Amino acid sequence: MLKNTTAVVTGASSGIGTAVAEALAAQGATVALFARRRDRLTELAEAINARDGGRAHPYAVDVTDADAVRAAIESAAGDHGGIDILVNNAGSGTWSPALEADLTDWHSTVEVNVNGVLNTTHAALPHLTRAASGERGVADLVTISSVAGRRIPTPQSNVYAATKHAVSAFTEALRQELAERHVRAGLVEPGVVVTELTTSGQEYAPDARNPTGYGLLRPEDVATAVVFMVTQPRHAAVNEILLRPTEQVR
Ligand SMILES: NC(=O)c1ccc[n+]([C@@H]2O[C@H](COP(=O)([O-])OP(=O)(O)OC[C@H]3O[C@@H](n4cnc5c(N)ncnc54)[C@H](OP(=O)(O)O)[C@@H]3O)[C@@H](O)[C@H]2O)c1
Repeated sequence: MLKNTTAVVTGASSGIGTAVAEALAAQGATVALFARRRDRLTELAEAINARDGGRAHPYAVDVTDADAVRAAIESAAGDHGGIDILVNNAGSGTWSPALEADLTDWHSTVEVNVNGVLNTTHAALPHLTRAASGERGVADLVTISSVAGRRIPTPQSNVYAATKHAVSAFTEALRQELAERHVRAGLVEPGVVVTELTTSGQEYAPDARNPTGYGLLRPEDVATAVVFMVTQPRHAAVNEILLRPTEQVR
């Protein structure tokens, strides 16, 4: 379904990004894998390229470095003839009461979750608008926000929730601006997913709020939502998908 399209997936070296890259490649897309850990990206590209479907290529880049991001986007577009889909997924999290927080953790969360999205989006937008006027007639910008981009799940989610509210607002503004150009800006807002982010051992991380051990989402569940968005026909835009583990209440 995504044959002859190129997708950039940030944060492809683990968790949701890995699952999204695999799912887009399974649909036939060529996937440019962005993250800092080159070894992980190379391993993933080899695994994807050993299967049927689209090809994958690693681009080691730190999303907080605007110049490096622009260079990587230009390389990916040049290598694969444009960019049809951008999945802004790279992210990090810090959870703690404000009275115990380290200010540098707050700043680095903003740097990755907000400025990282701005850096990648700014560099990719000209390619997306160009792709939308090409044969496919539509391009996709999907941002992985969070349930915490819609509401404040706990007080300890303070800065994380602030960054996700920020990218959700930014994405909705882009949607309004780009709708007529057929660039579909959409949000995927997961509840708790089993990844390195939630199993890092941070005392107030989301999985630590799960003492009853209910079943969490898998990265593949989020990837299914992304594929649903980007495989709609040209006239239909799925603007927002919020998904939680069945038993997650807040
Ligand atoms: N897990 C959840 O419960 C959950 C729920 C809602 C939303 N989300 C969101 O989903 C997204 C993916 O998270 P995840 O749960 O899959 O976490 P994860 O397994 O920790 O993956 C995070 C990814 O982001 C990349 N990344 C982090 N900092 C980066 C930087 N400076 N430059 C480039 N890449 C960077 C990491 O790659 P490198 O370290 O190799 O750079 C990694 O590939 C995040 O935006 C997160 O906020 C997660």
